[in-house]
Amino acid sequence: MNQQNQTILSGITPSGRLHLGNYFGAMRQHLEMQHQGDAFYFIANYHSLTSLNDGDMIRQNSLNIALDYLALGLDPDKCTFFLQSDVPQVTELTWILGSLCPVSLMEKGVAYKDKVASGLSPNIGLFTYPILQAADILIYNSDLVPVGADQKQNIEICRDLAGKLNHTYGKELLKLPEPHIVEEVAVVPGIDGRKMSKSYNNAIGIFDEGKALKKRVMSIQTDSAALEDPKDPDSCNVFALIKLFADTRKKEEIATAYQQGGYGYGHAKNELFELIGETFAEAREYRKKMEKETDYIMDVLKEGGRKARERAEKVMEPIRSSAGILTTYRKELV
Ligand code: ADP
Ligand code: TRP
Repeated sequence: MNQQNQTILSGITPSGRLHLGNYFGAMRQHLEMQHQGDAFYFIANYHSLTSLNDGDMIRQNSLNIALDYLALGLDPDKCTFFLQSDVPQVTELTWILGSLCPVSLMEKGVAYKDKVASGLSPNIGLFTYPILQAADILIYNSDLVPVGADQKQNIEICRDLAGKLNHTYGKELLKLPEPHIVEEVAVVPGIDGRKMSKSYNNAIGIFDEGKALKKRVMSIQTDSAALEDPKDPDSCNVFALIKLFADTRKKEEIATAYQQGGYGYGHAKNELFELIGETFAEAREYRKKMEKETDYIMDVLKEGGRKARERAEKVMEPIRSSAGILTTYRKELV
């Protein structure tokens, strides 16, 4: 299929501040792909309820994430940008998919086990999180889902559920989507070398700056090789992050300096600090300028929601009808 005709969809959960792992693992692809097809991006506020029950925080995080995306170059005229909660068809489809989903399919989910192991409460929302995610994707007839590598299983579950619904009602009511994962940036390391994540307190924020950014970068863990020692760039956390920002020439230059010795981790950290500052300078300016423009942000989301609901209703209507769910008021709501 011509890429321009493809529907691209992704969501981001407003559960905290966005970091470099989110940017390179997911957001950068979202921003590039808004020019390559019919893109739908949304703020997954219902998903955040599975781990957060602070209403003010979810509200604030949602607006912050919208602002982050706009600052980083999301163009609301090019793509549909909206709140998950503005599309009631998503929760409606979630119930129908859930009623077809064997418990054993959820029991295979590794994300649930990981999240519970890391201390989250084992609630039903967390357990059935992949069903809500499947509805998010399927309700727009999405073709491609750009995400980080950790979301691969959720997309497989989504395909399984779409197949189940089509099989149950004997019609191609839902399209099976493909994940889009950029392997080179599949896992961005945090300052302790583990996967960068909000929940590990090892993240560098996209909009960190000045002293706070410097402190974060300087605390990236390295081995104890001395300044004059030759070093292996490929096993170094600082270099793993530099690689994401620098162009090919700069990367080679720094890799050679590592191997020759006489180039310390402090030098590499300063280099990284500069690269982060330069890369996000423009976005930071925009963000500061727009910080108070809540009305503008809400207007963008409102228009996105309208477009998303229109598309969602087209997919939902034949499903309701096949499942035998009568309604009397839908048409007026879209
Ligand atoms: P977190 O682990 O910080 O809670 P999320 O689960 O909210 O992050 O992830 C949002 C998106 O960013 C997902 O598509 C996820 O795959 C991607 N992502 C998150 N952390 C990383 C990372 N360290 N490396 C690559 N991609 C990541
Ligand atoms: N689970 C995703 C994450 O943790 C967020 C998400 C919710 C999502 N619904 C989605 C991603 C649909 C892609 C498509 O980042």
